[in-house]
Amino acid sequence: MSSHVINGFSKLSRIEKLNWLQKQSSLSQKTIDLLNKHLHPDKLLQGIYKDISENNISNFYLPLGLAPNFLINNSLFTIPMVIEESSVVAAASHAAKFWALHGGFHTEVTGTQKTGQIHFTWSGTMEALQNVFSQEKEELLKSVKKNTQRMEQRGGGVTGIEIKATGPNLPNHFQLFVTFQTAEAMGANFINSILETLAGQLSTRLHRTGEPGELEVIMSILSNYTPECRVTCYVEAETSVFEGLDPSMSGDKFARKFVKAVQVALYDPYRAVTHNKGIFNGMDAVILATGNDFRAVEACGHAYASRNGKYCSLSTVDLSESTFRFTLDVPLAVGTIGGLTGIHPLAGASLEILGNPSAEQLMQVIAAAGLANNFSAVRSLITTGIQQGHMKMHLGNILKQLKASEEETASANSFFMDQTISHADVAAFLASVREPK
Ligand code: MEV
Repeated sequence: MSSHVINGFSKLSRIEKLNWLQKQSSLSQKTIDLLNKHLHPDKLLQGIYKDISENNISNFYLPLGLAPNFLINNSLFTIPMVIEESSVVAAASHAAKFWALHGGFHTEVTGTQKTGQIHFTWSGTMEALQNVFSQEKEELLKSVKKNTQRMEQRGGGVTGIEIKATGPNLPNHFQLFVTFQTAEAMGANFINSILETLAGQLSTRLHRTGEPGELEVIMSILSNYTPECRVTCYVEAETSVFEGLDPSMSGDKFARKFVKAVQVALYDPYRAVTHNKGIFNGMDAVILATGNDFRAVEACGHAYASRNGKYCSLSTVDLSESTFRFTLDVPLAVGTIGGLTGIHPLAGASLEILGNPSAEQLMQVIAAAGLANNFSAVRSLITTGIQQGHMKMHLGNILKQLKASEEETASANSFFMDQTISHADVAAFLASVREPK
């Protein structure tokens, strides 16, 4: 813990930052060596990673895995996933392989509209504001032409603009509500620069008309809530395809229990959050692998899950006669150009693995990964329970940490088949098999 506030930390070199850290804390030389070891040996690549964010002292690695066999709208995809939680990639791969044999994932983008807001207070009347806005709307739009020209060539641009009162609890608060199409980009920079230009223009123009009243722009920012930028994805099959998934259940029984599990997530927020977390396991991993903003997608997804006044599951299930259909409907603002997608070399690699998709295709791939992980999680929960798969991975990780040999790993795997697994138990087991006879 440091004893004083440091000024100019960002100006220090990496080595100076580490020296400062070493003086401030009891950081060991071993840890410093570890941090150094994680720098990329290729100077060019290290330079790229270094510039992604500020004050960095090393790189923090996460595995980039592959989930093959994703049949999406009749095309096969291998999906790159970056995630720290073991079993997510395996769960996605299992579900993908299962559904590839039963028609695959059917996806559709239902909209790609993004939104931004200029929030301001205005002491005059709404009518005066509306009048000025109607007169000046075209000029306002013209004022951002130079920002929108390139985007318009790519099929995007500003698609709508209106004045709204922000809400009954905030008198005198208004907003310019602006809608956009951003083509292959997620569009945050594009939207924010247009909003800031428009905000300046709005003040000037209102002032010029001589309308009585004071206008103060509070802020101009895109909204990460994008309910009009959405994708749906479903899998569908006869319940007979579930025959044999669990030895104690018929296919029909499996489907009925699955429906009950999803219904719980529709009505109980405690369960719904965990259910949706299982969806984001798959979605975030692809979002991260392709250099997109997972916080934006998560924040939006959770708000969308509450759109009817109560937080509920993002996926739904229908069982009519013997046809099972499992659907995910989720807002998803992502891009395949701009932002980190063009900077992080592995984001580029992930996009190439996906066949360089358009933003709309990427939305569909991400939704399929989300639905796949959701299916696998619910499948485990209603059959073996979640711990069986998790514990297998957990045991493998502990054995690796404790540097177990091949032979020790095999005997630990068979010993812990029906035992609870903890680090201490595995260490004790290894000590017992390692003891000299
Ligand atoms: C674990 O990361 C995700 C699950 O908890 C999701 C779920 O409960 O549906 C298994």
